Amino acid sequence: MKDVIRQGRLGGERTHDIESFLSSMEADRFIAEPDLLVDMAHLLMLVRQKIVTEEIASALMKPLLRMYQEGVPTDAFDEQYEDIHAGIESGLTREAGSEAGGRLHIGRSRNDEVATCIRIKTRSEIFDQLHALIRLRRVLITRAREFRDTIMPGFTHLQHAQPTTLAHHLLAYEQAFGRDFSRLSDSLARVNLSPLGAAAFASTGYPIDRKMTADLLGFDGIVLNTMDAVAGRDTAGEILAADTILLTTLSRFCEELVIWSSAFVRFVDLNEIYCSTSSIMPQKKNPDVAEILRSRAGSLLGEFVSAITITKGLPMSYNRDLQDLNPHLWRGITGIRRDIDLLAGMIRTARFETERMAEEAGKGFSTATEVADQLVREFDIPFRTAHHIVGHAVRKGTMDLNTLDEAAIEVTGVSLSSRGLTQIIIDTALDPAVGVNIRRWPGGPAHSATEQAIIERERVLADD
Ligand code: ARG
Repeated sequence: MKDVIRQGRLGGERTHDIESFLSSMEADRFIAEPDLLVDMAHLLMLVRQKIVTEEIASALMKPLLRMYQEGVPTDAFDEQYEDIHAGIESGLTREAGSEAGGRLHIGRSRNDEVATCIRIKTRSEIFDQLHALIRLRRVLITRAREFRDTIMPGFTHLQHAQPTTLAHHLLAYEQAFGRDFSRLSDSLARVNLSPLGAAAFASTGYPIDRKMTADLLGFDGIVLNTMDAVAGRDTAGEILAADTILLTTLSRFCEELVIWSSAFVRFVDLNEIYCSTSSIMPQKKNPDVAEILRSRAGSLLGEFVSAITITKGLPMSYNRDLQDLNPHLWRGITGIRRDIDLLAGMIRTARFETERMAEEAGKGFSTATEVADQLVREFDIPFRTAHHIVGHAVRKGTMDLNTLDEAAIEVTGVSLSSRGLTQIIIDTALDPAVGVNIRRWPGGPAHSATEQAIIERERVLADD
């Protein structure tokens, strides 16, 4: 079980504390499989470049392939190894002998090895997240289509503001998640480049072929400057930042689900599989999944801040501090796919209480803007004057003809009923559906605008 790396320069018996302090083994569980891929790609390149013989290559490829099929053996994860790279190389050397095992590391370093593994694992998490975002956005669009004409109150400051539709609300989130999608796919282009061949930082004198290993590992190209290739972790920071932004949007939606499922509001009845009960209060149905999802953005922000702060002030090129970043990266980005799918599931199975939404839609004078707008249209008065008249009426507590007329006289000295204001004009403006359907410009809540928005968002989704 000897660590092949420590048998040269250094002696001494390290205590368990020192070994486990230095070892990245725990976090390296996330890159054990990518490490085998990196080993195999590097080996194929070495043999094609005639840096190792075919005999050596096949003596190494057999155990590598077996490990890939059966999984990296547990003893490779022993903390006496500084990391999984040392663990795998030590195991290979034991199995294939030092003549073969000792040649795998020709022309590379753990510095480019780990940087490559990080990008492979990160890339695969991003792919999973992008797929989950597609699923979530599809659910949002589907449910938006279902609730095109479901009038509900729209809020600012969490106060009833203007009526809108549930579709409008759902499409707002779909659009925001669409931006998360494009942020992540933009980042993917920067992540999916190969650092392999940078070796410690200055590349190597062996006639390696960086393009070949990059192709074999599915990268779009190489990280050209070899110093940056081993030192840079900004791409890891970028993904953590993009995911933090994503989870922040997700947490806002979950906060609404928590509010909407409260007995005060009752806009939604969440499927029971997403809820928990109380150990003491038998009646409770708590929206626990939404609550934990709401908190996840906070945890992730912590990981992002930790990771980016570790890189702050580090000189070129590789520094061991970088190892300490990896647990934050893995804790941060693994699990996001699941979070997105949980929200999608909750929305797909939610029962929206459309009657309750309709009941609330006109409350709190939320159609007052439309009444003011109607006064402007009918009597060609400035919007601010109409705003004052309606404001006075709200203060009086009703929105009927008499009250509005009194308010008009107070504000302008002129009666509006004498100029033709009728109860019918007021009632029309007070109807939430009228207010919604007059807002028919691109992106608005009107039925026609929603139809258009759904077509447009489906097109964007199909392109993504
Ligand atoms: N376990 C290390 C890491 O995660 C691998 C690179 C080690 N390099 C070194 N020069 N000690 O960063």
